[in-house]
Amino acid sequence: MSKNTLTITDNRTGKTYEIPVEYDTIEAMQLRQIKVNDDDFGMMSYDPAFKNTASTKSKITFIDGDKGILRYRGYPIDQLAESSNYLEVAYLILFGELPTKEQYAQWEHDILHHTFVHESIKHLMHAFRYDAHPLGMFIATVAAMSTFYPEGRDIHNEDTRMKQIQRLIAKVPTVAAFSYRHSRGLPYVYPDNELSYTGNFLNMLDKMTEVRYEPNPILERALDVLFILHADHEQNCGTATMRVIGSSHTDPYTSMAGAAAALYGPLHGGANEAVLRMLIEIGDVKNVPEFMKGVKNRERLLMGFGHRVYKNYDPRAKIIKQVADDVFEVTGKNPLLDIALELERIALEDDFFVERNLYPNVDFYSGIIYQAMRFPISMFPVLFAIPRTVGWLAQWVEMLNDSEQKIARPRQIYLGEDERDFVPMDERN
Ligand code: ACO
Repeated sequence: MSKNTLTITDNRTGKTYEIPVEYDTIEAMQLRQIKVNDDDFGMMSYDPAFKNTASTKSKITFIDGDKGILRYRGYPIDQLAESSNYLEVAYLILFGELPTKEQYAQWEHDILHHTFVHESIKHLMHAFRYDAHPLGMFIATVAAMSTFYPEGRDIHNEDTRMKQIQRLIAKVPTVAAFSYRHSRGLPYVYPDNELSYTGNFLNMLDKMTEVRYEPNPILERALDVLFILHADHEQNCGTATMRVIGSSHTDPYTSMAGAAAALYGPLHGGANEAVLRMLIEIGDVKNVPEFMKGVKNRERLLMGFGHRVYKNYDPRAKIIKQVADDVFEVTGKNPLLDIALELERIALEDDFFVERNLYPNVDFYSGIIYQAMRFPISMFPVLFAIPRTVGWLAQWVEMLNDSEQKIARPRQIYLGEDERDFVPMDERN
């Protein structure tokens, strides 16, 4: 008869342990009872980079990496990208259900009417050097927001918490747009609350002397779909960081600055920027075979390929390819697309990539679209951080409400020196 347990025999002692299995998982703390003698610390599991460790139970996002499935709160990503908009998806991710008409109207109002930032935030951003990286500015400004909203530290009060969540979702496009305008030496544009979330973002980026800015509806919708695709992705590096920082009961602004900092790296949210730089460096389709030779010789990575969880085509990459066609209708085709398509064609046929299950991830095509929309490359990771804000915050709330969570604090295996006596400086060799 099958039992939901795992039997472990410790060959050091001959003892047998029966450990409960739930959700195909054992609790790591159960290993602690496995000891050689009574004053032993007990057994631990060793898992650098958390390759096989679940750090939480979650009800937000489901990924099946082998089948290429991504769902928010049960809804497939392709259905949301097709039929929903970013603010509705944000509501879904945060509250667990799609909003009714009334709930949506209230939510949209709450977000679109918190878009202004304190004038001192504008002055703070103005102090950055002319060539400051926009994500560096974004991270610093989000952290600084904690000093403007000190009540955000009252993280156990649900109403206060919701207020900060609304503020963050509403204000990140403003902070992102100001960082862009700063890097261009252009005056900052205040929000227009009559426009949609992405329409207003485009307004704050692009508005010049016109009385009323009218976003291009195709670009507005494309950006909205890209925002939906980036809204959450379960326990990735940035989100795990949000949870770890939040676990010490830090306020949401400072926690989120940490999450955005994790996103900065080229192996995570910085990958879209790295892909574009790689495509520019390749320069021409004829140079692709030589470049691929270098990848296979392990001289470099094919940026935008591979994923810790997806061992199949990233479902977001499929949707992005469709968005690219719509955008190119307006902007004209980005010549780098041909290089990307050729890289993908070779990679999908080549044993090196096939054996390692390396497929394009969300970042492989997003940068080509952003560039066609005339975003500077350094803005790409910021365009990731804006929509990911809701994912970070939903995961943060879930962590705070989870009675099984405590301050995050991993163990280590110490392999350094054993105890030794201090040696005065003039006696050292
Ligand atoms: N190009 C070439 N080889 C690769 C690539 C790549 N992009 N990605 C992985 N590999 C190889 C590794 O060298 C390794 O080969 P080996 O087993 O022979 O040593 C094998 O594939 C497995 O790769 P790992 O690095 O062990 O996989 P891991 O899960 O640790 O890393 C990661 C995932 C970081 C995304 C990796 O694939 C990568 O660096 N990709 C490029 C950067 C990128 O596009 N990041 C964006 C990820 S999506 C996101 O964050 C939104």
